[in-house]
Parts: sequence; C-alpha cells; structure tokens
Amino acid sequence: MAIIVGGVGTTHVPAIGKAIAEKKHNDPYWKPFFKGFDYVHYWLARTKPDVAVVFYNDHGLNFFLDKLPTFAIGAANEYRSEDEGWGIPVSRPIPGDAGLSWHLINALVADEFDVTMCQEMLIDHAVTIPMALIWPGPAWPIKIVPIEINTVQHPLPSLERCLKLGRSVGRAIESYKQDLRTVIIGTGGLSHQLDGQRAGFINKEFDRLCLDKIVAEPDALTGYSIHDWIKESGSQGVEFLNWMAMRGALTGRVSELNRNYHIPISNTAAATVVYDTESGAARQAA
Ligand code: DHB
Ligand code: FE
Repeated sequence: MAIIVGGVGTTHVPAIGKAIAEKKHNDPYWKPFFKGFDYVHYWLARTKPDVAVVFYNDHGLNFFLDKLPTFAIGAANEYRSEDEGWGIPVSRPIPGDAGLSWHLINALVADEFDVTMCQEMLIDHAVTIPMALIWPGPAWPIKIVPIEINTVQHPLPSLERCLKLGRSVGRAIESYKQDLRTVIIGTGGLSHQLDGQRAGFINKEFDRLCLDKIVAEPDALTGYSIHDWIKESGSQGVEFLNWMAMRGALTGRVSELNRNYHIPISNTAAATVVYDTESGAARQAA
C-alpha cells in the first residue's frame, strides 16, 4: 500500500531560479534562505519518497484567465515547462506518475471534487523552483503528480475547501495498492503582494500565526474568508491555499520537524517547513 512520509512547504519565487543558476547559495542575501533546505535534504535522504504530490498554482503558463479551472490535476508521464519571461533557465522535464494520478482522479470525483483532468499540462515556476530546491541534483529521483489550485482569478476556493481537497487526496493515497512512498508538497506564499498600492506588503505576525496553527489546528484557519486573507497576507498571500491542501493530505497527528522563515526573498516572505505524519514517524522508528 502507498504511504505518506510527510509534507514539505516552500515558497516558489522565480528569482530563486536565477540564484540557483548563478550559484549564489552562499551570498549574504541568499544564504539564510538556502540554508533552510539543509534539513529538507537530510530528511528526504532518510524518508526516500518515490512520488511527490505537488499542490501549486499556475501563474498563466498553462491556464489563462479565459479558461481557469478551480482544481486541476495532471495525468501525464512527463511534465514540461516553458519560458515564462522571468529570465531563468527552463527546467528539464519532470517525470509523472500517471497511474497514481488516475487513482487520485477517480477518488476525488467519487468524493465530489470534480477536478479538471490534464493529460498534458505545462508546469510553471510554482512547481519547477520547489523541485530544484528540494532535489538539487542533476537527475530527478522522483515522479510527481501536480495538483493545481486557482489562486489567480476570483472567486477562489475557500481555505476550508482546500483543506478538504487535501484530506480527500490523503485518503486516496492511502488506499492505493502499490507500495509507494509519497511526500506531499505545498508551494507559494507566505505573505506577499506583487502589485497595486500595497506592493511589497509582508505581514510577519500573520505568517507566524499561520505557521503555528497549520500544524495542529489547521481548521482554526478556515474562519478567514479569502477577502480577510488578502487583507492580512497580501493579494498573492492566497497561495497559502496550496499549503492548506498539503496539510490536509497529511493523515494522523502531524508535527513540525523543521521551519525556516526569512524575509524578504524578492517581494515575498519565504518559508520552508517539513512536517512529519504519525505513520511516517512510526515507520521510520520501526
Ligand atoms: C514573486 C513571488 C511569487 O509567488 C511569484 O509567483 C512570482 C514572483 C516575487 O516575490 O518576486
Ligand atoms: Fe506565486
């Protein structure tokens, strides 16, 4: 049976891609951010996942404002990226696990999450940057199932809906017959606003509250409307919806193994976390 070894949350700012290409890991600006991944690498070397289910938001590469699903899931054996205009190298393709994708699609639709199924899907920086941070080597040691959440065009799904989407994905993974070790990834956030009068807005106190609550009491965050969330976290702070879905997919008691919070990276409050699941911890101890 498939198991969930834990979760990783990380920001996905495109400028990180340029810093990686220019090997700026030890520059004073970048070092405190990249250091946050030392623990992620250590933890992955021990937990050895085969597949990553990645909750993220597309920024206009695959979906545009004319046709924008609320939830979409990739069902391909490979995902390509393209130049988004950020001036960063285009990622090499990432292998997909189409078998797990179809299992999740069946389970989600049975659970009344009527997701858009994509047998071809371009992945943007919200997948490729976290992948390059989490698995920095020359080849991908992992396959992915990308799950896309609309954080771009209103109305957006609620925090509660994304938490429930994640819970449905978590149940579905644990009902998959293949012996797979899965890690759940949520990308984006935390607080940031890229445009308008509040461009550059960051809210450290609110980010801390989110990082504290999401571990043991994610339901406590569902009282915020999307409108409230934008006030507290900035217009792109709603990318936290991806984190809520990631947290929802983690079954049993969840604990925080590591947290790195650093501001700013570009316009964004950058957070990197690793969460353990009860079953992941028990399996490691065994
Ligand atoms: C930035 C942050 C994002 O989440 C994004 O998608 C693009 C840019 C930034 O801070 O520069
Ligand atoms: Fe973004």
